[in-house]
Amino acid sequence: MTAPDTAGVRVELRGIVKRFGPVQVLHGVDLAFEPGRIVGLLGENGAGKSTLMKILAGYEAPSEGGIVVNGRAVVFDGPRAAEAEGIVLIHQEFNLAEDLTVAQNMFLGHEMRRGWFVDDAAMRGIARGLLDDVGLGQVDPDTRVRDLIVAERQLVEIAKALSRKARVLIMDEPTATLTPGETGRLFELVARLQADGVTIVFISHKLDEVERITEEVVVMRDGRLVARQPTASLTRAQMASLMVGRELEDLYPPRRAVPADAPVLLSVQDLSVPGWAQDVSFEVRAGEVFGFAGLVGAGRTELFEGLLGLRERHARAVSVAGSTVLPRSPRAAAEAGLTYLSEDRKGRGLHVHFGLRQNLTLMALERHAKPWLDPASERQALEQAVREFGIRCGSPDVTAGSLSGGNQQKLALAKVLHPGPRVVVLDEPTRGVDIGAKREIYALIRRLADEGRAVVVISSELMELIGLCHRVAVMRAGRLQATLMAAQLNEQELIAHATGTH
Ligand SMILES: Nc1ncnc2c1ncn2[C@@H]1O[C@H](COP(=O)(O)OP(=O)(O)OP(=O)(O)O)[C@@H](O)[C@H]1O
Ligand SMILES: [Mg+2]
Repeated sequence: MTAPDTAGVRVELRGIVKRFGPVQVLHGVDLAFEPGRIVGLLGENGAGKSTLMKILAGYEAPSEGGIVVNGRAVVFDGPRAAEAEGIVLIHQEFNLAEDLTVAQNMFLGHEMRRGWFVDDAAMRGIARGLLDDVGLGQVDPDTRVRDLIVAERQLVEIAKALSRKARVLIMDEPTATLTPGETGRLFELVARLQADGVTIVFISHKLDEVERITEEVVVMRDGRLVARQPTASLTRAQMASLMVGRELEDLYPPRRAVPADAPVLLSVQDLSVPGWAQDVSFEVRAGEVFGFAGLVGAGRTELFEGLLGLRERHARAVSVAGSTVLPRSPRAAAEAGLTYLSEDRKGRGLHVHFGLRQNLTLMALERHAKPWLDPASERQALEQAVREFGIRCGSPDVTAGSLSGGNQQKLALAKVLHPGPRVVVLDEPTRGVDIGAKREIYALIRRLADEGRAVVVISSELMELIGLCHRVAVMRAGRLQATLMAAQLNEQELIAHATGTH
């Protein structure tokens, strides 16, 4: 490597203010990063972490204040200018072009040339090496991004950032969609980058990971810095209370026993989704929280996408709230009393260019039509959802895409509960939400069950399943391996079934 590639870069944000229209989201932030450090950036949903880092990486311009790189004031007119200084951001919300291949995405705007021609072979070769570095050696660089699963897309984002030779690498929630194994590999990579003198800014709501890899943490609240401390000097509980500004008691509310005579609200017999799931059967009763554990690729999401008619499937029998039905579409499922929160909130969950109201009421239009659409009733529904779910938005008139990551998740959750379903299936319900909001979502799940609904929770966070569920089904390679009762639930047991080492 040449000298400029390995030189440490010291970056500094000075007096950063950011306004979106009348709403001010950053209030004069001063923050410097020394070369070769791993710094965690923490804060509640909507605290301003992504916005601050988008400014540092040239995606947003500050309203006031500036950036200093190695003592030199710089102004970025876009991400390319920041990349030229070695500053690269891995986005929280994916930023890949779905119709292009993995290699094309990695080199978009940075195509390698041989003479007049784009050098596809060279790019493919480098792409292959970088994919290997992030643990995606099995993915062909010519695969279209649309054919990748969510975790693979995340890893492609990371490989793409590596191809830019970052000296300051900002990772915004990089592990939200990864399995523990993939996360472990990513952290090995982070350690190698650090040894090379790269500065890493690690934004995460997973405090155990922050504890594991960062040397210091910076905490933001409401657009301001509230603390900067060595990681080792803080417990997780202290990190959490710095973020939310108060102490948090127990994360998981107590479980109420499911009455023996509680009716079965969801019954699935021998459901198969070709290529993904085979002959899966289970029943969920009113008042029950039923979990699905498994590794990424075990077929959990695909099983439920099949159940909702989003994939080819067949089943011996399915019933929802007592009626036999194999829904043709999510809308048909909602009419039968079952709604589904997709793990892919940008793809299947929310319409990012639509307003909050439209998103919320899309599945329950009939309720707001008398017989035409009634804006007052829609507005009221939104106000209630904002209150109940603690959705933080500058104004109710913004688009869903302008909400912070965690607040989009809360909106998606409000949307699936809006039709008042008897059965709810929540795929990764707390992905990207802060610890305070997590606790509220757990309380909500418990309340839904206590009201007599059946709740299915698909989660890659084992602690979440253990803390919430009455029973947990474990899937591996498309089959149901085991169903464990609450009393039998522990991490080792779940991992053993999920990996087939039982
Ligand atoms: N383009 C935009 N237009 C309007 N408001 C915006 C825009 N981008 C961000 N905001 C607002 O700025 C605030 C900070 O959002 P930001 O995404 O920085 O939060 P965050 O700390 O990254 O949260 P999370 O943990 O949920 O990802 C939020 O209130 C958000 O709605
Ligand atoms: Mg964010």
